[in-house]
Amino acid sequence: MKSFSVLGVSTLAAFVTAQSAPNFPVQVDTNLRVDFLNSSTSVSPPGTLLPRDDVLYGPTVYGPENATEEATYMLFMVDEDVNTGNGPRVQLLHYFQPNLVGINHELSVEPNARNATTAVGAEYLTPSPPAGDGPHRYTLLLYPQPEDFTVPQAYISFSPPADVNARYPFNMSGFAEAAGLGQPIAANWFRVVNDTTSTETGSSTTSTASASSSASASASASSSVNSAAGLVEVRGSASELVAGLVMGMAGAWLWIF
Ligand SMILES: *[C@@H]1O[C@H](CO)[C@@H](O)[C@H](O)[C@H]1NC(C)=O
Ligand SMILES: *[C@@H]1O[C@H](CO)[C@@H](O)[C@H](O)[C@H]1NC(C)=O
Ligand SMILES: *[C@@H]1O[C@H](CO)[C@@H](O)[C@H](O)[C@H]1NC(C)=O
Ligand SMILES: *[C@@H]1O[C@H](CO)[C@@H](O)[C@H](O)[C@H]1NC(C)=O
Ligand SMILES: *[C@@H]1O[C@H](CO)[C@@H](O)[C@H](O)[C@H]1NC(C)=O
Repeated sequence: MKSFSVLGVSTLAAFVTAQSAPNFPVQVDTNLRVDFLNSSTSVSPPGTLLPRDDVLYGPTVYGPENATEEATYMLFMVDEDVNTGNGPRVQLLHYFQPNLVGINHELSVEPNARNATTAVGAEYLTPSPPAGDGPHRYTLLLYPQPEDFTVPQAYISFSPPADVNARYPFNMSGFAEAAGLGQPIAANWFRVVNDTTSTETGSSTTSTASASSSASASASASSSVNSAAGLVEVRGSASELVAGLVMGMAGAWLWIF
């Protein structure tokens, strides 16, 4: 009983200072300033619910407030609420940008930065949670970029991801551990929800049509599923994900993230 209430208090304290989303496996106390400049939107307070239209284009982030020396950073943005239709929700990598440089102002990409890496990031992917799935939580984390950084072998398929399906299941703490990143300097998070209520059948009709009318499209979709190293256990189960890839080729969107 006593230990239960102690746990309750420390959980509450952690919640009050947390700058990453609740239950995100990497918890950070220092706030990261995140602006979506194209829509004049700041992510404040942490956890704020934003219209999808405000986060269409990638964010701008800022160096630590009391920094006095320029440093090199890596930025990650991860959705922790991706429903694969099979087991617990998983993380999806929305954005990975190395070689960010600055002091305590707007960070910018500098390929010739000190500690520069030739590792290829993951382009920003606009949050698009599926209708009726509740709000998804998107955490942004700023890590120091160590000398000689390379993407760990187990995560090489994320650098760059071949397609949306190659962005999950991600593991932020596993990546950081394997790459020797240490703790993030700062974090922030926001939520996006899709409140559309109509049960749309148009898109599944489209995917069935393109799957049956285009054998070569579905063959290449399957082979790219099979060749993405390390991610087979989640994607292997899902014929609907092959359909998702086909939909992607037909120009429609896969709404899971
Ligand atoms: C802002 O939006 C325009 C399109 O309206 C786009 O071309 C541009 O890349 C965006 N800027 C950023 C920083 O994403
Ligand atoms: C300022 O720097 C110290 C470390 O020197 C750090 O512990 C502290 O969190 C920083 N404060 C802010 C606001 O970034
Ligand atoms: C480069 O990485 C080292 C650790 O590997 C770190 O001590 C140093 O501050 C980094 N330099 C910059 C400019 O970020
Ligand atoms: C909501 O999701 C549906 C598909 O599930 C999509 O067609 C629609 O554009 C989405 N709306 C927003 C605002 O994200
Ligand atoms: C992520 O990686 C960490 C560190 O290797 C590991 O402890 C954890 O179980 C992994 N999480 C998942 C969901 O695989």
